[in-house]
Amino acid sequence: MSIILKTPAQIQKIKDAGIVVKKILDQLDEIIAPGVTTKELDDFAARSMQNFGVISATLGYRGFPASICTSVNHVICHGIPNNKRLKAGDIINVDVTVIKNGWHGDSSRMYYVGEPAPHSKRLVKITKECLDYAIEIIKPGIHLNNIGYVIQNYAEKNGYSVVRDYCGHGIGESFHEEPQVLHYGKKDTGMLLEEGMTFTIEPMINMGTEKTKLLADQWTVVTKDRRLSAQWEHTIAVVKDGVEILTL
Ligand code: MF3
Ligand code: CO
Ligand code: CO
Repeated sequence: MSIILKTPAQIQKIKDAGIVVKKILDQLDEIIAPGVTTKELDDFAARSMQNFGVISATLGYRGFPASICTSVNHVICHGIPNNKRLKAGDIINVDVTVIKNGWHGDSSRMYYVGEPAPHSKRLVKITKECLDYAIEIIKPGIHLNNIGYVIQNYAEKNGYSVVRDYCGHGIGESFHEEPQVLHYGKKDTGMLLEEGMTFTIEPMINMGTEKTKLLADQWTVVTKDRRLSAQWEHTIAVVKDGVEILTL
């Protein structure tokens, strides 16, 4: 097992998938509102994928039963869409991964349902900044764990914790490949980044404990203390002069 470096033409294929993911996330922004169920979001996303001529990477993945993941409030990740209605003040992560012409694009964002409390909005904003600051440092020759270092440093400085149990991942013709991209870590440790690496960064940041709990459905991951969690994700490529975000 090792890291599969991608050619510029292969990176373009991931980007083609990533652009579709971005468009679906944009469309979801229009329909997320109080009273909508996450199942309705899943149905909408499934239709949209069909219209774009792509397939969901999550539907049937190790038995996952839906086209997207919907993770509300204290759900950290891998939430299964259901018939519960979103309510004003919720925060929700929607994670979309599609396969287009055999290549994967993977991205997730947070959405507000109505107007969340200031403390909820702050968590969402700081988590987005964790991702943005991590992406900013990427270029060939830096250590992989500097990504996690930047995220952990910024999250903890702001009083939050970083989830340890789930991480970012290499991506390409496979959904999850090497390397594992940790969202915490020691500066200047780990492998050196090389041109042609493609992976996701997807920090999960908690208001309280970083400890997680897996629900009985064997998918839904929640915070052990049931306090809020937020996540943002992009797929990126390490390129000659730095980094390219493939899900914009
Ligand atoms: N999209 C998620 C990720 O970022 C993985 C979801 S796997 C699923 O890696 F099966 F839960 F959908
Ligand atoms: Co994802
Ligand atoms: Co991912």
